[in-house]
Amino acid sequence: MERSLVLLKPDCVRRRLIGRVLARFEDKGLEIAAMRLMQVTPELAKRHYAEHVHKAWYPELETFITSGPIVAMIVEGPQAVRVIRGMVGATNGLEAASGTIRGDFSASQQMNLVHASDSPESARREIEIFFPS
Ligand code: CDP
Ligand code: MG
Repeated sequence: MERSLVLLKPDCVRRRLIGRVLARFEDKGLEIAAMRLMQVTPELAKRHYAEHVHKAWYPELETFITSGPIVAMIVEGPQAVRVIRGMVGATNGLEAASGTIRGDFSASQQMNLVHASDSPESARREIEIFFPS
């Protein structure tokens, strides 16, 4: 059993897509082990996106991710990290395959609805940020 940190980003909440995105994870048989509606602060954004903080587009990403409430979740299941990344799709909604969440709902490189951990190590690090033990 594996865990992933999944964030439903502010665009997902604003567009009232929480239910439809959540349903995909439930339909797949994944377990929602924890869930909270919360506001990301600039400090939290910098911790979560530590690998991107020095990139030219980071300031815009921070503005976006702090622009409204998000839903943070721990999602659990066999090979959950790889399975969920596959369901979420490529970063840019314009390139993400149809049938993926980003491919079906996003036409943007930034506003792509969902974050999902990219490795079990990232998952452990990110879960500690959003669900401190
Ligand atoms: O989320 P994912 O792991 O697929 O992509 P990333 O390369 O780790 O980038 C993190 C997030 O930054 C993306 O999901 C986008 O929301 C955002 N991003 C952006 O605003 N501009 C870019 N040029 C690339 C990514
Ligand atoms: Mg990433």
